[in-house]
Amino acid sequence: MSIDRILVQCDCDRQPSVFDSIVAIDSGVNHVLRYCAVTPDSVVPLVHGAMFTRGGSALASTALFIGGSDVKLAESVFERVKATFFRNVRVSVLFDPSGCNTTASAAMVAMSRHIKPLGERALVLGGTGPVGQRVARLLAIRGASVDLVSRQKSRAEMVCNSILTEIGTGNIRPVEMSFEGIAGQEFLQSVREARMIVSAGAAGVVLLNESIRKQAHNAVVMVDLNAVPPSGIEGISPLNKASSLDSAYAYGAMGVGGIKMRIHRASIERLFQSNDAVLDAEEILCIGEELEAAQNP
Ligand SMILES: NC(=O)c1ccc[n+]([C@@H]2O[C@H](COP(=O)([O-])OP(=O)(O)OC[C@H]3O[C@@H](n4cnc5c(N)ncnc54)[C@H](OP(=O)(O)O)[C@@H]3O)[C@@H](O)[C@H]2O)c1
Repeated sequence: MSIDRILVQCDCDRQPSVFDSIVAIDSGVNHVLRYCAVTPDSVVPLVHGAMFTRGGSALASTALFIGGSDVKLAESVFERVKATFFRNVRVSVLFDPSGCNTTASAAMVAMSRHIKPLGERALVLGGTGPVGQRVARLLAIRGASVDLVSRQKSRAEMVCNSILTEIGTGNIRPVEMSFEGIAGQEFLQSVREARMIVSAGAAGVVLLNESIRKQAHNAVVMVDLNAVPPSGIEGISPLNKASSLDSAYAYGAMGVGGIKMRIHRASIERLFQSNDAVLDAEEILCIGEELEAAQNP
């Protein structure tokens, strides 16, 4: 007898994300139980409800999704969820607040179409935000030399240190974007050396104007994740998908949107294959890479 798939959507916002609920249903979930304003304390009874209701192999038919726009808060909720499980009394969990992991993974998959392996020089603009941090971390894990950019060097340094603490070893260094509004020499050098450029800055903010972009002579691929005009990389349109720009391939936010949606749906499906999957950035990237490999054997 088949048992209904239930996803417990734990969202830290005042209203649970409709987007995340619809993707869940489109990914074969029968029932989405939606909770809002979830905190590290209030998530515990939700996790207990998921863990203790169905036993044995039926546990794999219940899973958790952690979402919300406050990624820091969602991270604390995620930590509490993992600490609440014990032995094999657990359910699978997907962590994707604000789409940060699926978006970062989609950018990685797009870049891997043009640079294989990814162990080359990369520039991550907006590297201190939730998406940028994850792109930088995943690039470092895949062997790239990452320049992580912020408007403030100290912020970039803090994020680089925290990524290095998490991954143990990697090649990642902080870069300040500008000094008193003027692009600094270090930043310009990073632009000139980069083979991959990802813009993960706040929505509607230009981080790389055309004159600086044109100095990116070594760039093979550029990805701009900002969908709100103006573009983060001047000259990239949100619809660009492996479009030619200068001598590089360009992707806009919607150009990577198809990959992101496939990764999101496949990650939801993966939750129901066992009761112990914990899907964070690296696991979600692996799912994206598997999808890509299956599409281009
Ligand atoms: N396609 C999708 O499905 C999808 C999903 C999620 C996100 N996104 C997009 O991905 C991008 C990154 O998202 P996020 O949530 O990580 O971004 P975020 O936290 O809003 O911003 C990222 C970084 O941008 C920098 N920044 C903020 N305001 C700025 C300004 N006025 N001028 C220059 N830099 C500024 C900040 O870094 P410093 O202060 O350190 O300089 C910040 O840490 C956004 O454009 C978002 O819309 C797309």
